[in-house]
Amino acid sequence: MPSRLSDAIIRPHPDFTSLQELPESYAWNQRDDIDYPSFDSSAESVPIIDLNDPNALQNIGHACRTWGVFQVINHGVSTTLLDMVESTSRTLFSLPVNQKLKAARSPDGVSGYGFARISSFFSKLMWSEGFTIVGSPDEHFRQLWPHDYTNHCDVIKEYKQEMKKLAGRLMCLMLGSLGITAKQDIKWAGPKSDFKEASAALQLNYYPACPDPDRAMGLAAHTDSTLLTILYQNSTSGLQVLKEGVGWIKVPPVPDGLVINVGDLMHILSNGSYPSVLHRAMVNRTRHRLSIAYLYGPPSSVKISPHPKLVGPTHPPLYRPITWNEYLDTKAKYFNKALSWVRVCV
Ligand code: SIN
Ligand code: FE2
Repeated sequence: MPSRLSDAIIRPHPDFTSLQELPESYAWNQRDDIDYPSFDSSAESVPIIDLNDPNALQNIGHACRTWGVFQVINHGVSTTLLDMVESTSRTLFSLPVNQKLKAARSPDGVSGYGFARISSFFSKLMWSEGFTIVGSPDEHFRQLWPHDYTNHCDVIKEYKQEMKKLAGRLMCLMLGSLGITAKQDIKWAGPKSDFKEASAALQLNYYPACPDPDRAMGLAAHTDSTLLTILYQNSTSGLQVLKEGVGWIKVPPVPDGLVINVGDLMHILSNGSYPSVLHRAMVNRTRHRLSIAYLYGPPSSVKISPHPKLVGPTHPPLYRPITWNEYLDTKAKYFNKALSWVRVCV
């Protein structure tokens, strides 16, 4: 994971449980994206794809082209592991604020506890807490649980391993549906096409119950800067994705399902065929919500560009080659406060 995702502002974090009313600093009265209508899943719904289905590759291609997001089931990650990572995350966020602040993200750091990393682009605060894990969780977890951190570390390490395997498999399917064979066409995929050198980070998000959910924002609208993101959400809904020409669509949790977002780097690699999905997280009056995002991208030295197989006289490359770090720097520069997001064309 690049070291420059350091756009967080370290501000003292409030104890959400002590707030009976929404403070003005959290009230998104002029939410830029509020004008789009919201629909529940009965209007249009994000595709759910069974990875054991023989048509999984075609289904994924269709979902990437039309939605930029889909859910997967039968993905091979055990329910027990999903429950364990949820339990570790819940335990982490239920620690007293002062304890969590011992593992606060440093101003120029990436890992640790703090506000959502996109917070610095917005004047209003988001009703959420985050914890980013790049590399090993050991150091931070020792600060949180001095006597009892190893079990939690083991859960996170196992989860990251499983996510890496699944992400490699999804890469092969997503690229395959574009006519790209990982083994032959992507140098950094490695001889086993397992994308062993990929970079990744784990982002734990916690959205406490909120006294005024209609005016609050859990996580503001953004696209992920990744190749792909694997998102686990607990049983409280809150994730919404923007479907062009329709509006915000809720993505209800599916038992044991994982949400897969097309990220900006996949958008570039596919030369715009697979658009990265704009998404946001809303909050709930009575129920807290938890989500765990596995942010997956190329090794830091690899430049991502529109794949030569997708480029030709009638399909000129829409984007220039760029590393993950360079992309993040560019995106930060152009992130537009008025629009809340831009998909960077460079
Ligand atoms: C994210 O975009 O990182 C999280 C979205 C969610 O909580 O559903
Ligand atoms: Fe995201």
